[in-house]
Amino acid sequence: MDLISIRDLDKKQIETMLEAVDKTTAHKGKILATAFFEPSTRTRLSFQSAALRLGMNYIDFSPELSSLRKGESFGDTIRMMDGYADVIVVRHPKEGAARLAAEAAESAVINAGDGGNQHPTQTFIDLYTIKKLKKKLGGLRIALVGDLKHARSMHSLVYALAMFGNMLRLVSPAGLELDPALVEEIEGKFKEKVETGKEMRLNDVDVLYVCRIQEERFADPYEAKRMKEKFRITLSTLEGVKKDLVILHPLPRIGEIDPGLDKTPYAKYFEQAHYGVPVRMGIIDYLLGR
Ligand code: NCD
Repeated sequence: MDLISIRDLDKKQIETMLEAVDKTTAHKGKILATAFFEPSTRTRLSFQSAALRLGMNYIDFSPELSSLRKGESFGDTIRMMDGYADVIVVRHPKEGAARLAAEAAESAVINAGDGGNQHPTQTFIDLYTIKKLKKKLGGLRIALVGDLKHARSMHSLVYALAMFGNMLRLVSPAGLELDPALVEEIEGKFKEKVETGKEMRLNDVDVLYVCRIQEERFADPYEAKRMKEKFRITLSTLEGVKKDLVILHPLPRIGEIDPGLDKTPYAKYFEQAHYGVPVRMGIIDYLLGR
């Protein structure tokens, strides 16, 4: 079993996986490999920590010290790791890389982010956090704010949130809107009307989910810089919001959330990041089976 895209799952499977989070069993003797071809702090370390907490060991692949430098292909690299590990966690700058790895490997493959496409384990963390803080997964008004064009965390999340029947408001700087084909897809599949706009209307919102401008996916770095300067959430942005508003962010934040917000009761992004370990333990446990 692999975990490549939120699209491969239905509500029942997602609910079952979320329920497994706090009921994991040990997997002594099993090995997890982290194969990251793009930078990461939280995802790589929380997967390694999750493996250790499940009684497993982990091995870590470093592209810059590997035979990739001699010209070995991605497919052959994964085929090798397949013999060394029971679970392979892949992050890669190219869309579709994790699916390719899953086709090349017998071991379970987990997509830890493929380009601007998908980041399903981040979505599990987001859903787990929302359920913990709001006591439900549906019927909420959720604003998704930031670079919706390039952020894979948003592409996975928006799909799952619509699946669970939430009211979505998408807010992005001009030019960084969510792909209209994805909006159309989720409206058609889940019968949820998705609001889109440039204005940050937050007064009726239960969850505000922010992501950074994904600078590395811009063709023009000057354009990214210009967007970053325009886009920032401060205390004054939050005037008139609901008292129990929850602010989430996959992190890293690069200036889009003023650190002055960290001490407010709304800020839950560090708590969210810490759920990375138990949620990923649940995912590994589910994929390895009992
Ligand atoms: C995200 C990613 O890599 O897509 N990071 C993460 O896994 N928490 C978000 C981002 O980099 O903006």
